[in-house]
Amino acid sequence: MQLERLLHSQGFGTRKACRALARAGRVSVAGEPCGDPFADFAPENLEFAVDGETWRYREKATLMLHKPPGYECSHKPLHHPSVFTLLPEPLKARGVQCVGRLDEDTRGLLLFTDDGQLLHRLSSPKHKVPKVYQVTAKHPVDAAQMAALTGGVQLRDEPAPLAALACEPVSERVIRLTLAEGKYHQVKRMVAAAGNRVESLQRIAVGGLALPEDLAEGEWRWLEEEDLARLTAK
Ligand code: URA
Repeated sequence: MQLERLLHSQGFGTRKACRALARAGRVSVAGEPCGDPFADFAPENLEFAVDGETWRYREKATLMLHKPPGYECSHKPLHHPSVFTLLPEPLKARGVQCVGRLDEDTRGLLLFTDDGQLLHRLSSPKHKVPKVYQVTAKHPVDAAQMAALTGGVQLRDEPAPLAALACEPVSERVIRLTLAEGKYHQVKRMVAAAGNRVESLQRIAVGGLALPEDLAEGEWRWLEEEDLARLTAK
């Protein structure tokens, strides 16, 4: 693949802008400066650098962000900055989208991709990818509330009761709740319907992919093949 096209595919601007980047001496490939925008490379796993920052060629961009509270999952946020401000420019230019949404005050594992098929697979209710939330409640969570959450609670505007796949106690006011769906404010509404109230909410896993302990709030990381496999593993 010609360097100009490669850079363009990875979100570094228009073909013309990418040509100019190379000609200005701002690009190196596999450790060597490359000023020729038409130089040809096998893109698979190719490492290149733009202005000294190293990237690896990826046909599709799929990543995780440790979302901090105070950010909205929208390109046009209303009251808070957008989660997209936490991603580097080339990823935004590639058009990565959030896989589902977290509320502004929710923290934790948020996925992004520019892979339409993957986005569909992970967000479609048909595929029921489980999501695990750590919920801190306002009041102690009792056995009756946990039974209601796993047995099913009726939410307004839902045709049938919604039940958590699992509900495990962590401490008096903290539970781990696994949901198959991703409906609007689902955790908060289910916990309220069970007679309690969510005080803080963190998503700790999607499918078999857990939020890594060493990924600080506000930081992002690429998903590698093994992460993608974990995502869809039951
Ligand atoms: N359920 C909620 O209520 N909020 C979230 O952010 C995610 C799930």
